[in-house]
Formats: sequence, C-alpha cells, structure tokens
Amino acid sequence: MAMRISSDNFIRESAGGRRDAVPSPVTSLVGRSIMRVADLTPTEVLALFEYVHAIETGAVTTTGLLHGQVVCTLFFEPSTRTRLSFESAVLRAGGNVLSVSDGYATGVQKGESLSDIRIMIDGYADACVIRHPDAAALAAFDSVKVSSPMINAGIGQREHPTQALIDWYTLWSEGVVATGRRICVVGVPARMRSIRSFLLLGCRVFPSALHGLAVVSQYEDWCDPELADALQSAGVDVERTTNLDEVAAASGVIYLNALTMLDGRFVSLTGDTVLSVDSPLSSTCRILHPLARGPELDRSLDSTPHNLYFRQARVGVPLRQGLLSSILGGTNA
Ligand code: CP
Repeated sequence: MAMRISSDNFIRESAGGRRDAVPSPVTSLVGRSIMRVADLTPTEVLALFEYVHAIETGAVTTTGLLHGQVVCTLFFEPSTRTRLSFESAVLRAGGNVLSVSDGYATGVQKGESLSDIRIMIDGYADACVIRHPDAAALAAFDSVKVSSPMINAGIGQREHPTQALIDWYTLWSEGVVATGRRICVVGVPARMRSIRSFLLLGCRVFPSALHGLAVVSQYEDWCDPELADALQSAGVDVERTTNLDEVAAASGVIYLNALTMLDGRFVSLTGDTVLSVDSPLSSTCRILHPLARGPELDRSLDSTPHNLYFRQARVGVPLRQGLLSSILGGTNA
C-alpha cells in the first residue's frame, strides 16, 4: 500500500493520491556533511525515514550502494552503538571501514591538530564519522575546507544528530507520535546531547508531538538559549518537574537518559530517579533510552511492551545505511 507521511499529524496514512515510487536515497544529501540537527530540512528527514523504512522492511536493499567507498570512523570517546552501527551500515552496503576506536592513539599524542587530522582523513576516506567530547572540536572540523563529507557522531554536550534521527524514526515507524499523548524527557537537555538533539529535531520536524512536553530534571538550568528558542518557535509548552512519578502516568513516551561527560568523566545527572515496572506507567507508554543505561532504567522493563529502547538501538543500522547511501550518492540500479 502506498503511504503518505504528514509531519503535521504524524500519521502514516494511506495515500489519497497514490505514490508508487520505491523509496530511494535522498539525493539532496549527496556530498553533504551532517554536523547539526539544523543541517537537515523537515522534508529531507521525512524522505530519509521513508527510505530507511524500506530498508528496514526489506522493500529495498543497500547492497552494493557503497561499493568501492571507504568510511572512516574516528572516535575520541567510548561507543558501543554509534560506531558499531555506522560500521555495520557501511559493511552492509558493500563499503569498507577505517575504524579508529581510540582517537587519542592518532597524531594528537604528538600535538597534531584536529584540523590537520581531518585533512589527512580526507585523503584516505570518502566520508568521516567523528565523535569527540569537546564541543570546540565542531569548530575545528568546520574550519577545514575538504571535499569529503563528515557526520557528527556525538560531539560535546550539544549535538548528536544521527541519534535524534534514530529516536524520531523509532517513534514515527511505530506510530507512537500519532497517539496525541505527551512526551516526557528525563535528564538535563542543556548538558545531554542525545536528549537535546531529540528535542531540537522534534521542534523542527514534529512540533505537535512535543505539545505538553514534560521535562524531569533536578536542574533549573535544564535548557540553553538555542534550545529555548527552538521550543518557543515550535510553540512547545513545557512543564518541568523533579518527580518522574508525577508525570509518568500521563506520558505516551518517556525518553530517559542519565549519563553525560563532564570534565573528562562520565557522570549521572538524574539523581535517584528510577523507572521500573513498579512506576505508574500507562499500559501504552513506550520508553526510549539512547543507552548505555545505569540504574535509572531498571531491567524489569526489558521484557515489557514499554521497551522501545532495544528497537531504538537496532534501527541505528538501517538509519545509518540510509543516511550514508544518501550522502555518498550510491546507486545499485
Ligand atoms: N546512543 C549512543 O550514542 O550510544 P553509544 O555511546 O554506545 O554510541
């Protein structure tokens, strides 16, 4: 059945006018770097979701789309999901990976600058996927004029755009954003790049889904000026509370995160907040967590229908297959 996607009501519905085209790579993304949520238009996000859905369901294949292409993953911070799912995506599309799981084992040990490293990678790979704990790295990479695109895999505390794509794709593909029930985020968006990027992308593409947003945070400075602007422009009304149980029952989605890197070490910013099967959840509430988790997400939820976080992690592969195939302009026709 042909599907039509609306970013106004978030419903994937039968098309009044049929669209018979098979979803394909998003051609407007060819050669583009994705460093910030703002680098993607709503139209591109929705087109990408259609393509990713076709990949995930087997309606299209990415086999061979990255044939002969080399993607470098350069990580200055630990990662399970982001690096491995990017690399899996490249391999599944027939490409090759230059994997640097410890960026500090590069010339940075000798004082080499990030901008020089970026120039080197431009000569060795067709695209570069970078994670770094320092937000200043964004500016360093941005300052270099190179021909190959770069993807932000989590830089500093502010931006993790492909995680946000995964999160919203998960909700969109499950039809969860059509329920009209409020979204609740637990954490400190100003200092947690996954939640922050989730909200920024929501404001940009799915503003209605954020109406009645609840933020559970012990921190009064949970927001920052750019995020506040985005929420205001999107018309999102926000309720902040320090008690998850107060808002859990009325939530259709709870997005939970605790860890962030501060001064070179990972710290939890959610205090003693814990979500478990004993929490007052509605029967249809779905839970997202970018993982890795701590005590805030109790394992008692793993075997319940609330658990959307394992699917969220799994769709990292087709999402990144779709994104890389689009950016690198592959064709298997
Ligand atoms: N979600 C996420 O960024 O996980 P990793 O730190 O394992 O990459």
